[in-house]
Amino acid sequence: MKFISIQEAINKGKGKVAVRGWIYRERGSNEFKFLILRDSTNIIQCVLRKEKFRRQWEHIDKLQIEASVEIEGTIKKDKRAITDYEISVDKIHIIGLSDEFPIQKDLNEKLLGDRRHLWLRSRKMVAIMKIRSTVTGALHEYFRNKGFYEFQSPIIIPGGAEEGPTMFELDYFGKKMYLAQTWQLYAEAAMYSLEKIYCIAPSFRAEESKTSRHLTEYWHTEMEVAWANLNELMDYAEEMIKHVIKRVLEKNKKELEILGRDVKMLEPSLKKKFPRLTYDQTLKLLKEKKKIHVAWGKDLRTIEEEKLMELYDTPVFVHHYPKEAMAFYKPREPKNPKTARCFDLLAPEANGELIGGSERDTNIEELKKSLKAKGEKLEDYSYYFEIHSYGAIPHGGYGLGTERLIKWICGLDTIKDAIAFPRTMTRMNP
Ligand code: 4AD
Ligand code: MG
Repeated sequence: MKFISIQEAINKGKGKVAVRGWIYRERGSNEFKFLILRDSTNIIQCVLRKEKFRRQWEHIDKLQIEASVEIEGTIKKDKRAITDYEISVDKIHIIGLSDEFPIQKDLNEKLLGDRRHLWLRSRKMVAIMKIRSTVTGALHEYFRNKGFYEFQSPIIIPGGAEEGPTMFELDYFGKKMYLAQTWQLYAEAAMYSLEKIYCIAPSFRAEESKTSRHLTEYWHTEMEVAWANLNELMDYAEEMIKHVIKRVLEKNKKELEILGRDVKMLEPSLKKKFPRLTYDQTLKLLKEKKKIHVAWGKDLRTIEEEKLMELYDTPVFVHHYPKEAMAFYKPREPKNPKTARCFDLLAPEANGELIGGSERDTNIEELKKSLKAKGEKLEDYSYYFEIHSYGAIPHGGYGLGTERLIKWICGLDTIKDAIAFPRTMTRMNP
């Protein structure tokens, strides 16, 4: 018989089927062996009667979790079974035996992390990885449909861009190099040829913070657009997030259910426009509604972002942050020179900053002044000054923390579960 997936067998619903996979759960009695079989598509209960398998019973009886098997039998609806169907088995072929599986119910986070290579087989991780695949697929789809080119930048770079202290240093044949925190400065060079570009690639941050939303290696979804202003950038960001949520709700209802994620938490973000607040309005709201005082000029801290987001059920843009607290490339707002033409998109449910973006400063003297104020070496940026010396245009872009979006969509406690093999200050293996 031709093998079909467990989901295809369930869809068929009756008659003879052949499926294969791994034992997810097993229990036995004198007369029966119940196996819950899993493959990448679903799980299903399979029943083996001892009287049918006299010669094989010794082996069947000893089957352990995660052993791999091929099964032929008859499928039928059975409300008592875990996924509403059951296969009454006629033939079983044991493919790979399994040792006692080292993941039992009550493992703590550390031990689950140590056994991540096996924990990936759990229903939870399978569901997350499927949603992750939908998310990255939808991001590619969004940008390509909008006429963006995919553009890749180097990961090993000589220096610069976001704040220096969070860079990983690399011994590059005796010379100091760094792992990129962003594609941005290279993307700006390429913007002058392709105009609309995007990329999903790893970024690296030597973050010493042990929070639920920082990784040292994360997948950064970045875009850069010629001629775009701040409002247009926010339009792209909002449309992109809505597109991703729409795709996940279309494709991953089952996975969200496995994760216990209430889709009502995501639906407002599909329907409502994301509010756009200036930094000044944000401070005022925090003061009036949350009794929190932020001194003008300070970047918002996690706690302040979380308090603000208690007031909303969709992501919120905060724009026009104080210039001095921002990266050097964010241009001054001519109408309010203490602020910069930049934004963050904050996520609901205490998920923090999803996206950071801005217009780009092409005034080389301003750039030099900001860099000097931040103690950077101007030589490191000579190529950057040069790209804006030949036909500079208004442009801008943003970066999305892909795992932060996945964490929010899935309703995860920690960003570490949004990626298969997380890297943090304290987690580097497997
Ligand atoms: O705000 P950031 O630092 O902005 C940039 O890197 C810009 N150069 C992007 C651009 O305009 N092309 O980072 C962008 C996003 C953040 O909003 C956050 O979601 C995510 O990257 N991010 C992290 N995600 C996980 N772990 C970390 N340590 C992160 N640091 C930033
Ligand atoms: Mg930021």
